[in-house]
Amino acid sequence: MAFPATRLRRLRKTDGLRALVRETTLAPSHLIYPMFVVHGSDTRTPIASMPGIDHLSIDHAVQEAGEAAALGVAGVMLFGLPASKDEMGSGAWDEEGVVQLATRAIKAAHPDLLVVTDLCLCEYTSHGHCGVLRSDGVVDNDQTLELLARTAVAQVAAGADALAPSDMMDGRVGALRAALDEEGYSETPIIAHSAKYASAFYGPFREAADSAPASGDRRGYQMDPANAEEAVREARLDADEGADVLMVKPALPYLDVIRRVKESTRLPVAAYNVSGEYAMVKAAAAAGLLDERAAVLEALTGIRRAGADIVITYHAKDVAKWLK
Ligand code: PBG
Repeated sequence: MAFPATRLRRLRKTDGLRALVRETTLAPSHLIYPMFVVHGSDTRTPIASMPGIDHLSIDHAVQEAGEAAALGVAGVMLFGLPASKDEMGSGAWDEEGVVQLATRAIKAAHPDLLVVTDLCLCEYTSHGHCGVLRSDGVVDNDQTLELLARTAVAQVAAGADALAPSDMMDGRVGALRAALDEEGYSETPIIAHSAKYASAFYGPFREAADSAPASGDRRGYQMDPANAEEAVREARLDADEGADVLMVKPALPYLDVIRRVKESTRLPVAAYNVSGEYAMVKAAAAAGLLDERAAVLEALTGIRRAGADIVITYHAKDVAKWLK
């Protein structure tokens, strides 16, 4: 006698019902698309480490943001490459800085699209660190906070809908919140990179953003991949300082961290599916080793299942097309 069907098998085998009992959804409205903007117009330069992603001049960034919006992608996240770099990273808070110009242009053309600006100094400093350096070469936490606060105000003044600080200085969420409130921007949310690991998966991004540290590494301000309790403590601190959304980065090696941050704070959680995670899938697909579409949809569904409300991913436009 055949083994009778179990309840699990009946649910899986009944097409209409399988969809009804699905526990996790993945839609373009869950996604944020990161973009790399450069000064000037009419240029689009492929980024070798990230196939399919380009350095975009502002007009191209406006166009790509429009494509993302038309596909139903919830928002874009802007990273800027300044025309020149200095010790302090002054391009970050310049009113005519590249992210400020791009933000104004995108908001003018696509007012309903969420524009999130990355908030960090590493793309703007000549040494590539996320903050200013003391004479002994160590990042000066408190001086960096002041510069980040200036940058935050400049970004919001340009029209940014939300800020995503990725620098990892201590106390930055509170410092940014205070600066924004003081300038009359108390309604602008902060999407804090709360658990940002010192990860090898940022490799392709550092080429894209030209932000690899000239000396040393970021282990002084990014987390040890071995730690999850620490991530919960970081997330709680950011929540107490006023973060509106907590971010875990990278995503796939840290699904347990996404879940723990979600459960211990009950705040909205964003997961950043970073450049190395993207490049890995692209390379494997290009070599014919896996089905890109199936692999990406599975990976992003897994990130959502782990507890992420928001997924920041370079696959966002492709996913939105596939889900159509
Ligand atoms: C730094 C920053 C990094 C990323 C976003 N912001 C890299 C780093 O810390 O060196 C990585 C994003 C990615 O890999 O896609 N402020």
